[in-house]
Parts: sequence; structure tokens; C-alpha cells
Amino acid sequence: MTLSEFLASVEQLAADAPAQIAATATLDEWTAVRTALVGRQAGRITDLMTGLAALPKEAKREAGQRVNAVKATIEAALDARQAALEAAAQGASTPLDRSMPGRAHWRGAVHPVSQVIDEVVEIFRELGFTIALGPEAEGAWYNFGALNFPADHPAMDMHDTLYLGADQVLRTHTSPVQVRTLQQYPPPVRILAPGNVYRRDFFDPSHAPMFAQVEGLVVDEGVTFADLKATLSHFARRFFGAETTTRFRPSFFPFTEPSAEMDVRCGVCRGAGCGVCKQSGWIEILGAGMVHPAVLEAAGLDSETYTGWAFGMGPARTALSRHGIPDIRILYDSDVRVLDQFVS
Ligand code: DAH
Repeated sequence: MTLSEFLASVEQLAADAPAQIAATATLDEWTAVRTALVGRQAGRITDLMTGLAALPKEAKREAGQRVNAVKATIEAALDARQAALEAAAQGASTPLDRSMPGRAHWRGAVHPVSQVIDEVVEIFRELGFTIALGPEAEGAWYNFGALNFPADHPAMDMHDTLYLGADQVLRTHTSPVQVRTLQQYPPPVRILAPGNVYRRDFFDPSHAPMFAQVEGLVVDEGVTFADLKATLSHFARRFFGAETTTRFRPSFFPFTEPSAEMDVRCGVCRGAGCGVCKQSGWIEILGAGMVHPAVLEAAGLDSETYTGWAFGMGPARTALSRHGIPDIRILYDSDVRVLDQFVS
């Protein structure tokens, strides 16, 4: 082959290639054209390279430069076509549908335990109660002594209480807020104290080392157990529904005398007995009682002049029975896939 013949076939390729590349409509077609043009085994560039070797020595330089230039142009055109075909293929698999509704964004929700607290607070607010808060790291005297716990009461044992120091604990209940409030404000007092409390318990279906409580306290002249019963029954009907019946059982707490526990008829089985109420037909909601005179005196009040009543409830327990959840860990693990189901 002469140099001019060789160059003629190079120019032929340079003229053919752009149209061939542009004509590919799919990535498969593109691959076939690429193989035909620049494939190592049988591509036209490879053929030309083979022909180049047979040219006279003095022609090789010019011929070689021209082949390399054409090869570079073809490769650039192939790359551009490939990018265009890939973009088109992607667009075709996810076409823009302008009629599609927008994606809903997860905005978060109020935790089921907080939902209970919010509702309890709302009901007592209607009755003229205000919110009082106290520290979670609490003096042992406020947590126990002022609340009339005898010096050897088992609740004060290191096995049950998390001590921060000799005289400081993580509060085991919200009842110390009673004492702090009475020290600070003269009666009449009507407060609700929601907050977290701590016990030296391991997680099991009905225990958690930290959980929420809501404390209530009323102190004034002439307050009686009838006030306690009427107010808490009203609360139960507002919270669980107008049909709800309540029952008060005698109980014991060091800081109340007399003491009681209030049950409500199980809303799941309506008293017939089911798994949620452990076949009893009743669900325990709270502990309550008339504030012990020793507590009033510890807070600096004259227990001859003033009387009061108090209650304490566990909103997590209430949330569990409300939703028929069998294990408190389901609430306190805070798995969003669970909590997502209680959007109010
Ligand atoms: N402090 C008690 C507890 O943690 C709950 C309680 C019971 C609070 C009776 C009260 C009450 O105010 O009157 O178990």
C-alpha cells in the first residue's frame, strides 16, 4: 500500500465514523459500533495500525500521526455518545410525573407517655391546678424524711434508690415536690407536678430505671377525703370517658393517712376480664390519700389549721393499658417505628 492509498482509507474512516456513532440509539448499538471502530481484535483503527506497519519507513511518521489524530476524535465522539445514551436511559426509567402527590415528611410526634401527661395536665388545669417542678437530683430529706418515711424504711435501701452522695439521691418519686411547694407558697395550694423519677430497677416488662410520674397536691383549710374522691373520679371520667367507673381501695403510703389506690374499670374488656387488666376487670391508676400531718409540719404548716390530699400516678402504665401494650420497654426504647404509630 502506498502512503496516499493509506491516507485515503484513514480519511474514509474519519468521514464515516461520526454518522455511525450518532446513529446509535441504544447502549447495545453503541457497543457494537465501538467494537467495529476501535475494537482491539477487528476494529478499523486496528486494521489501519496493521497496514501502517507495512508502509515504507519514511511514510510511517505522517501516516501514524494522522491515524492517531482520527482515533482520538473517534474516541471522544464515542465517549460523548455514551454519556448521552446513559443519561437518556436513566431518564426513561424514572420519568418525571408531575401529577404525583408530594412526599409526606415525618414531622415527629408527641411520645405516648407525654400525650398522657399533657391530657392529665389539661384536665387538672381546668380545675385550677398549676404546674410545679422540682429537681431530679434531690435531697434525701425531701425524698424520704420530710415525707414521713421511718428511718429504716426499705425504700431508702441502696438496693432500691440511686444515691448521688450521702444526702443526695435521684428522686424516687415526685412527692418531694409537695414539700418544696408547701415551703414556698402559702395555702391554698393546688398543684400538679409531672416529672421523671429513678429507681434502681432493671428493665423488665413492667419496670424501667427511669420513668415519669405525675404528682397532685391540694392543701387548704377544710379539705376532706370527699374532695379527693370527687376530684379523682371526675378526672377518671374526663380522661377515660364519661362511662368510666372507679373504685378506691385502702392502701398505705408513709406520707398519707388514710391512703388509697384508685382503679378504673378496664376499658378494653369493660370489666369482663382480659389480658390488659390481668383478668381482674380493673386497672390501677394512682395512689392517693390525705396528706399526713407530719408532712404538713415538715413543710412548716400548722396541721391543725390545714388539711390536704395528694395523689401520684404513672403515665407510662396508663399509656400501656390505654394502647394494650404488654411491655414498658416498647415505650422507653423509643424506636421510631413504634412511636410512629401513636401520632395523635
Ligand atoms: N409517691 C408514690 C410512689 O412513688 C405515689 C403516691 C402515692 C403519691 C400516694 C402520692 C400519694 O402523692 O398520695 O409510689
